[in-house]
Amino acid sequence: MKLKDIKSLLAKHHQEHLLDFWPELSVSQQENLLGQIEGLEWENIDSWVENYIKTEMPAKLPEKLESAPVYPAIASDPKIKALYEKAADYGKKLISAGKVAAFVVAGGQGTRLGFDGPKGNFPASPVKNKTLFRIFAEIILANSKKYNAVIPWYIMTSPLNHESTMSSFEDNKYFGLDKSDVFFFQQGTLPNFDFQGRVLLSAKDTIASSPDGHGGSLKALYKSGAIADMKKRGIEQISYFQVDNPLINIIDPLFIGLHAIENAQMSSKALKKAGPKEKVGNFCLANGRVVVIEYSDLPDELAEKRNADGSLFFEMGSIAIHIISRDFVEKLNKKGFALMLHRAVKKIPYINAQGNIVNPEQPNGVKLETFVFDALPLAEKSVIFETLRENEFAPVKNASGSDSPEVTRRMMSDRCKAWLKNAGINTPDDCVVEMSPLFAVCPEDVKMAKNKLISIKFSDKIYIE
Ligand code: UD1
Repeated sequence: MKLKDIKSLLAKHHQEHLLDFWPELSVSQQENLLGQIEGLEWENIDSWVENYIKTEMPAKLPEKLESAPVYPAIASDPKIKALYEKAADYGKKLISAGKVAAFVVAGGQGTRLGFDGPKGNFPASPVKNKTLFRIFAEIILANSKKYNAVIPWYIMTSPLNHESTMSSFEDNKYFGLDKSDVFFFQQGTLPNFDFQGRVLLSAKDTIASSPDGHGGSLKALYKSGAIADMKKRGIEQISYFQVDNPLINIIDPLFIGLHAIENAQMSSKALKKAGPKEKVGNFCLANGRVVVIEYSDLPDELAEKRNADGSLFFEMGSIAIHIISRDFVEKLNKKGFALMLHRAVKKIPYINAQGNIVNPEQPNGVKLETFVFDALPLAEKSVIFETLRENEFAPVKNASGSDSPEVTRRMMSDRCKAWLKNAGINTPDDCVVEMSPLFAVCPEDVKMAKNKLISIKFSDKIYIE
């Protein structure tokens, strides 16, 4: 585009200030800025400004919200038991046939934890201080060995942490995985705005922007060639998880099989919320489709609503674990789709009219994000499968208190102890246990290896490999 055309485009959308420092820029800086301006979604900017930036639109809740049907964690009904057996077998077949990939979204900033660098580098395990990335890599490696199949791992980063994430894999020799089975790609970004709807500059030649949320993964998977790579490899199902949860069972044959048998396009794991206001998304049903309503968007009266037996009406929380069919992602992208935007008011460093960098002490603008669970209602079929918190959800989110490293480490150790107990081995209460995923990824693995455990003397800290 010529400069003249860019100027009229900016004028049309009230963003002329983006060229305020034009005369001061070198030719390469000018080219850089023009490229960024051309890359903005101009067809959407005015509606974003009206609908999300200038005013805080209250979350639009569907008119009628029902509670969503859920497959229970423990099958007591014989029919469900039989279905679970069939599903687990089918899941194992898919994994063994190399049709399942792992996918972590790791593009976030992790500001709450106060950890510098990619969150995947956070040392999370209770004895060996293994990083989150190492734990996930070992879970994937262990399952590849168990099922004698390649399980490729797709890792979404963002411009904030792409290079540093790649280097930590390089520095650690891919944590034992084959480099050719690890695929990195970056998510997209969205511009940041001030409250008047003006796009902010973070430098005289740079538009302030931030990652477009984990919902951006559905587009980035396609754009980056990850979906094409999966197709080439014969991948049918994608196991989606977040970077913060080391208790994740990345390759769960039952969940994968249930999703596949039910012909679902996007399925979710859920757990019973710790209380009406636990800070997790809520599974609901709207117009016959599964939706997740964020805790912050669910009005108190609905969050507190109870069934006759006293249980919460919306009792199932989202733990951001999904199986997504590759085909679903491909189709969405081929026909075009847009997830709704969510608005976050933030302190955003910017260049003021005088050309100085300002680090605001109060929130001064809006960042926009999309959430992956907003794709659930786009799926014609979506399965929700309950899991138990102690088995599968111990995210590292805050520096202290709930969802903190301390809680995560305790839960990791407690799960190891429960698996040992299940195999008939009792451990002292004050003993901290860590198991290498290469030793066991499920209670049955521990049972099978019981002979190796008999001679272990449990001291205050023990690592089983
Ligand atoms: C999230 C979910 C919440 C769920 C909870 C479970 C949202 C809005 N809420 O909360 O429903 O119950 O996890 O733990 O997601 N990420 C990217 N790119 C981005 C933004 C995030 O890859 O642009 C990744 C992060 O690296 C992380 C994950 O998404 O792996 C979650 O992000 P985070 O912002 O920490 O979500 P939560 O608010 O903790």
